[in-house]
Amino acid sequence: MKKCFYLETFGCQMNVVDSERIVSLLGDIGYQQVDEAEQADLVLLNTCSVRDKAERKVYGHLGRFKPLKDARPELIIGVGGCVAEQEGQKMLDEVPYLDLVFGTHNVHRLPELVQQAEEGNRRLSLTGFLDRETRLNLFPQRSELDTVTRFVTVMQGCDNFCTYCIVPHVRGREVSRPSHEIIAEVEALVAQGVREVTLLGQNVNSYGNKEEGEINFAQLVRKVAAVEGLSRLRFTTSHPKDLSDELIACFAELENLCHQLHLPVQAGSNRILQLMNRGYTREDYLQTVAKLKKACPEIRLSTDIIVGFPGETEEEFAQTLDLVADVGYADAFTFLYSRRTGTEAAALEDKTGARIKQQRFERLLELQQERSQQIWQSDLGATLTLLVEGESKQGKGQLFGRTTWNRIVNFAGPSELIGQLVDVKITKVFRNSNLGELVS
Ligand code: 5AD
Ligand code: SF4
Repeated sequence: MKKCFYLETFGCQMNVVDSERIVSLLGDIGYQQVDEAEQADLVLLNTCSVRDKAERKVYGHLGRFKPLKDARPELIIGVGGCVAEQEGQKMLDEVPYLDLVFGTHNVHRLPELVQQAEEGNRRLSLTGFLDRETRLNLFPQRSELDTVTRFVTVMQGCDNFCTYCIVPHVRGREVSRPSHEIIAEVEALVAQGVREVTLLGQNVNSYGNKEEGEINFAQLVRKVAAVEGLSRLRFTTSHPKDLSDELIACFAELENLCHQLHLPVQAGSNRILQLMNRGYTREDYLQTVAKLKKACPEIRLSTDIIVGFPGETEEEFAQTLDLVADVGYADAFTFLYSRRTGTEAAALEDKTGARIKQQRFERLLELQQERSQQIWQSDLGATLTLLVEGESKQGKGQLFGRTTWNRIVNFAGPSELIGQLVDVKITKVFRNSNLGELVS
């Protein structure tokens, strides 16, 4: 009988891609994925530590598996990802029924750990960063998914050290993959039926900057866009300080580059931006936005914002509100500042009370939701082009695709349309998705 594993993934797309890798690696050693932990011989959590809430969730989830372990002591329980990287052995000390801990640079060694655990060698922890060469040799991150859209990692890690952020501490320094490997991977994916790729990295805009003789990100985007058969291209995440004019020009020139960009601003006040070590001013950011809108008038932007950074005053917060109103984001992901041990900001004095922070958070949310709704409602009645991704959860004969703005639209249509670009008239706009009718 095949052995079974259950995997839960938290956090960003990096973790999603790492989880695809985990599925593939475990398949190689005879494990099959199941939807219920109760049926599994191996239970894994791929974790996120970007905010305290995400981290606490991990411990909460592990607690859920304790009764399973009590009933079946042979069950193997493992934790990977950013919390694993950060906590390492400490997690084993704190959670007596945990068997394996594997950090962000050690996903490739999971099969080895699992086999050891099968043989009775438990309570193993593997963390710490690999050198650049070893990391680059671990690509491409093969997976056998049968999907229309895919993420392709172009760089890993981060050198920016925003003062609030744990990522550089748990994912290591920036490395960029050779561009010829990335192009070859995109070509192979397209040959296999993929129609849209999202180039992925913690800060894709600094792609290639540290590698001698490598092309820059704008050049990479052009090369990927030119891969024959690729209907659409996106990239994430962009750091505003590294978004070049050359890259902005791509939005005007490349037909298959989607008119959507995630451009985290984090705060609207220059003093806070500086304390965050973001490397740009409010004015720089607004100028970049103006350039983007000029190059591509229909572009829709999304952002990340942190509310309640240590010492943020009411006036400084009001500058964030003002910037949000000014830019007109289609979506914004808003977060309450969360103190992360090991980051620079953790040492800053923070006198603002939790209640005030919460009120600010709600004010921002209200403003943003109003803005988002205005923008998305304006699509009602419009005919938009979708890349059809698959059958929708709504039922038989229902498909779903995405607009250039990455908005999900559900509509009725035959499954032969999967993988194709089709025109759909928008008939209903919900909070997070739309309903449409195929235009023949
Ligand atoms: N507290 C709150 N939000 C954070 N983010 C990163 N670190 C923190 C933190 N310590 C947010 C940023 C980032 C997004 C992925 O998470 O807005 O862009
Ligand atoms: Fe974190 Fe800043 Fe790097 Fe983004 S750019 S991962 S926020 S340190």
